[in-house]
Amino acid sequence: MNRSGIWGAVAALTFVAGAANAGTFPDFGYQPPSKLYSGPLFQLSQDYPKQMPNSTPPGFFGQLPKPLSNDFEKWRPYTDAVKKYCLEGNVETDWVVQKNPVRKWYHAPWQHYGPDGREGIHGLTKEAQIQVKQLAPTQTTTGQTYAVGIYNDIGGYTFGQVWKDPQNPDPRYTSKPNSFPNGTVVCKALFADVVQSQVPFLQNPVQWDAYITDTFASSNRVIRKVALIQMDFAVRDTRIPGTGWIFGTFQYNGAVTGKPGWDNLIPVGVMWGNDPENNGNDYTNPQPSVTKINPKLLESAINANTKELPPTHLGWNGRLNGPVDNPVSACMSCHMTAEAPAVSPMNPTFQANPPPVGSKEWMRWFQNEPAGWPFDPGKALSTDYSLQLAGGLQNFYDWKCNQGGVFVGGGNACTNRAGPRLQLNALPQPTKIFKVTRDPGLEEVH
Ligand code: HEC
Repeated sequence: MNRSGIWGAVAALTFVAGAANAGTFPDFGYQPPSKLYSGPLFQLSQDYPKQMPNSTPPGFFGQLPKPLSNDFEKWRPYTDAVKKYCLEGNVETDWVVQKNPVRKWYHAPWQHYGPDGREGIHGLTKEAQIQVKQLAPTQTTTGQTYAVGIYNDIGGYTFGQVWKDPQNPDPRYTSKPNSFPNGTVVCKALFADVVQSQVPFLQNPVQWDAYITDTFASSNRVIRKVALIQMDFAVRDTRIPGTGWIFGTFQYNGAVTGKPGWDNLIPVGVMWGNDPENNGNDYTNPQPSVTKINPKLLESAINANTKELPPTHLGWNGRLNGPVDNPVSACMSCHMTAEAPAVSPMNPTFQANPPPVGSKEWMRWFQNEPAGWPFDPGKALSTDYSLQLAGGLQNFYDWKCNQGGVFVGGGNACTNRAGPRLQLNALPQPTKIFKVTRDPGLEEVH
């Protein structure tokens, strides 16, 4: 990807000017031309708490099924409560999250930069291509996904710590146990640019205007309506042995209620581990006409109610993934690779000669690593399952490198993309990879 040239100049300018917000970090990378758009511009919520918020974990912590179970119905009260937590006050304010009257939310900095950077209407970043028939058998053309993620105050505090010196971020902060403290909640709303008539569950859509590329391959931006298709969440919960995180997702289905609304987000499932023992491939289902639920998975729980959800592809061998996610991956498989610098790809297939499916090399992406341990010990620092933190740091180092590469206080961003503060070999190294079982007794691991 070419991140220099005109783009670098624009970013530098935005960085100095601070854009619409006059905050430390730029708000967005792609401002819609004023002759096409005159509405409000996206502002980054970046007033990160300076003190660790003195808050107890969210109330939905009380709904965690004990023991953990791969029967989704045991999780339904939990996912209902998480959905409420993510949406309360945000739907009413159209996700201008700094105006949320119920609780505070924050955005990740440095997502504005590069070809996939935030657009200026809702702060959406460019994500993946939607493949033909990935969403429904009637979906015959490709599409693309855009998204915005938000962190609660507990997670926002961590961002403030890592980025305390905006010219010299310090990912050592997250490369240790309890970097994102217990009670961190992240929610992410995903929007699709597809031919909506080809996707039955996108009828009665919730739509946003967005300044997006006209196709996935293009870099030419246009204003277009995109449709809410998925909402992800991640919760840091120290009671979860092994990984310390719970990931879950909702899929939009406007076919059931018959009217548009965020309520049409239906839970697909949750996962709290990668099922390291399970290396089969029978339930992988890239072009779904039915949902294939793998009963042997112990660390994903998938909603089996076909009245509320259309057929969906899930992740590799039935692990949790949402409709616009990669069908040979899984939420925690991708997120476990979050580190700075990003040494390994997010999925075994994202490299020149992928290992055989299910092989030992392949299964490296389906282990359970505890919160805060790097995927490449000795070569990188963990950003604790946060790919936005990892991506923001990567963007910052790319920008620095394009600026000439020198950090305040010395060090070269082009040769040391993890920043000048890091002495990687001096860091604590992981000693074991954890197995999560169905009934771990919910003990703390850290
Ligand atoms: C192919 C890899 C991949 C898969 C699979 C994936 N994600 Fe992500 N996710 C990303 C990347 C990359 C980002 C950061 C970029 C962004 O948000 O625009 C991200 C961002 C997020 C965020 C925002 C906070 C953060 O950690 O950066 C949440 C929450 C999230 N994903 C949850 C999920 C859930 C839940 C699933 C499964 C249903 C999932 N993800 C599947 C790659 C993946």
